[in-house]
Amino acid sequence: MSSPVLQTTNLTKAYASPEGPIPVLSGVDMAVMPGESVSIRGESGSGKTTLLYLISALESPDHGQVMWTGESIFEKSSNWRARRRCTFMGLVFQAYYLIPELDAYENVLMAARLKGKLTAADRQRAKELLDRVGLSARMTHTPGKLSGGERQRVALARALLNQPPLVLADEPTGNLDEHTGEDVMELLLELCRDEGASLFLVTHNPDFATRTDRQLFLHGGGFEQR
Ligand SMILES: Nc1ncnc2c1ncn2[C@@H]1O[C@H](COP(=O)(O)OP(=O)(O)O)[C@@H](O)[C@H]1O
Ligand SMILES: [Mg+2]
Repeated sequence: MSSPVLQTTNLTKAYASPEGPIPVLSGVDMAVMPGESVSIRGESGSGKTTLLYLISALESPDHGQVMWTGESIFEKSSNWRARRRCTFMGLVFQAYYLIPELDAYENVLMAARLKGKLTAADRQRAKELLDRVGLSARMTHTPGKLSGGERQRVALARALLNQPPLVLADEPTGNLDEHTGEDVMELLLELCRDEGASLFLVTHNPDFATRTDRQLFLHGGGFEQR
């Protein structure tokens, strides 16, 4: 039997405020298997983004552990986490987070630059992925010249460049109209399937959620049984 790509145990997080700590997550246990897609739904403020930040180590938990293919990441250095993150996961956010000065091709290649020295294989793969997301004619366009849907397609290509075993997406269609969101979601699901990547998808859309292997609901600091 294979072991989880991603696992959390007793993951707990509160944010400080002048009125005292605001508890957000209280003891979240979860595991995502290789190639599995999991959707997370929950009301606004239920802690979905916080959970995603903890499992990507963009934030630290108060208690509990996050394991990337069995390695407990908060026992390692922040340097280790930053380096490992580049190849372990692709991140997709609602707001795209592309670099405005760089064209689509250079934005995709940025994932490889963070990992180390650019290779011919990186360049080749960036072109292939841009072609795969339907943007081969837009490689030299900067984000300002691209539509929202096109920007998110660039972000998808960037997320997959280093062949990560895991893709994390936080409301990736949140800024898109219904039709464009549908296309981007189809592409995200298809790319992860083709690449064999696990997908951890935060979405409000029940139709998108039903297309993942497993649906989770975050409520009151943990996962709710439904
Ligand atoms: N950096 C922060 N400082 C203080 N409170 C925060 C911070 N980030 C999020 N929160 C609070 O934590 C709760 C969960 O937020 P979030 O994880 O963004 O929820 P969701 O993504 O489900 O809408 C909310 O009450 C939010 O206001
Ligand atoms: Mg959120």
